[in-house]
Amino acid sequence: MSKVKIGIVGSRFQADCIAASVKAMPEEMEVVAVASPTKGNAEAFARRHGIPRFYSDYRELLSDPEIEMISITAPNRMHAQMTIDAARAGKHVVCEKPLCVTLEEADAMIDACAKAGVLLMYAEELFFAPKYVKAKQMADEGAFGRIHLVKQGEKHSGPHSDWFWDVEQSGGGALMDLGCHGIAFCWWFLGKQKIKSVYAQLSTQVNAARTQGDDEAITIIEFENGAVGMVESSWNRPGGMDDSIEVFGDKGQTYADMLMGNALPTYSEVGFGYAVEKAASTKGWTYPVFEEHWNYGFPQEMRHFARCVRGKETPISDGETGRVVQEVLYAAYASAGLGRKIALPFRPKGIVKPIDLWKKPELAKAAL
Ligand SMILES: NC(=O)c1ccc[n+]([C@@H]2O[C@H](COP(=O)([O-])OP(=O)(O)OC[C@H]3O[C@@H](n4cnc5c(N)ncnc54)[C@H](O)[C@@H]3O)[C@@H](O)[C@H]2O)c1
Repeated sequence: MSKVKIGIVGSRFQADCIAASVKAMPEEMEVVAVASPTKGNAEAFARRHGIPRFYSDYRELLSDPEIEMISITAPNRMHAQMTIDAARAGKHVVCEKPLCVTLEEADAMIDACAKAGVLLMYAEELFFAPKYVKAKQMADEGAFGRIHLVKQGEKHSGPHSDWFWDVEQSGGGALMDLGCHGIAFCWWFLGKQKIKSVYAQLSTQVNAARTQGDDEAITIIEFENGAVGMVESSWNRPGGMDDSIEVFGDKGQTYADMLMGNALPTYSEVGFGYAVEKAASTKGWTYPVFEEHWNYGFPQEMRHFARCVRGKETPISDGETGRVVQEVLYAAYASAGLGRKIALPFRPKGIVKPIDLWKKPELAKAAL
C-alpha cells in the first residue's frame, strides 16, 4: 500500500519533532506539506526537512488533495477549529496534547470527525515510549500483582514559547501542559477504567511575574477499582527534561526514568552541542540522551497512526482519550479552587478555560 501522506500544521518545536519522527519510520508515511502563518517559516521548515510543499494558511493545506492525515502542532487554542476544518475537508487528524481547551470543544471535535468518517487521533506519545510500554506489558502479565499506585512526573524549566505562559492561549499552566501526559498515562496504564475522583494541589511558586498559570501541580486520581494515580507536573526544574514513572503492586514494583535513565553520564569542562530538551548548559556533569524521539515514542506513535489510517490498526489514543484527560483537567483545577476532591463525572458547561475553575472557585462550586 502507498505511504500515508501527512500535512503538518505549525513549524516550530513539535512540528520539528513530528517531521523527524515520520522520517525515522519512512516505510508507511511521509510528510508532503507544512502550513505556518509567519512569513518564511513554513518554507524554511520545508527546506530543512525536505518537504515538497508549504503554505501560509492551514486551510490551503487542507485543500491539498494529496494529504490524507494532518498533524496539528499549533497552540492549544487552535486545535478545535483546525480539527473541525480538517474533518470537513475529509482529512484524518492527529492532534497534539492537550486535545483542546474546553470540554465543548472536545465534543465538537469528536462529533465532526465521526460525522466526516475520519479518525481523530490524540498524540499521547507516552503510550508508545519503549520503557513505559515494557512496564505496561509486565503489569498486564501480572508481574506486580494488583497495582494500587501509578505515578508519572514530567518536569522541566518551563516552556520555550510565550503562548504557553499566557493562559488565554494555553488554557492553564504546568498541569494543562505537562499534567495532561500523566493523566493519560495513569488512565491507560490502569486499563482505561472509570475515574472516581480527582484532587489537585496547584501553586505558582517561581513564575508569578510571568504567568497567571500554575507552575507546580500535584494531581491525585482515584480509579474505580481503588487504585490511585499520582501526577507531578513542574515548570521549575532546571537541568533538562525529567520524565519518569513508578508502578507499585502487591507483588512488586518498577521504576523508569525515560531520559536520564537512558543517558550517558558525562562530564565536560568545555561543553558540547546538545544534551537533552531544555537543558540550559552542557558544561560540567550532564546527561546527554541518544535517540531522544525514539525514547519518547514519537516515531512509533506516528507509525501507529499511519497504520490506523490504512485500517491496519485501531487507535489506542483517540478523541475519547483526549476528552477523558480534559475532564480530569477540569476536575483538577476545580479541586484546587475549592480545596477538596471532585467526583467524576464533572462536566461543567460554559467554562472558557480550565484554569478559571481554580482562579474563580465560584464557577467550580456552581458546577457541583
Ligand atoms: N507531545 C508532546 O510532548 C508535545 C511537546 C511539545 C508541544 N506539544 C504540543 O504541540 C502544540 C504546539 O507546541 P509547540 O511547542 O510546537 O509550540 P511552538 O510555539 O514551538 O510552535 C507553535 C507553532 O504553531 C504555529 N501556528 C500558530 N498559529 C497558527 C495557525 N493559525 N496556523 C498554523 N500554524 C500556526 C506557529 O507558527 C508555530 O509554528 C501544543 O499544543 C503543545 O502542547 C506537545
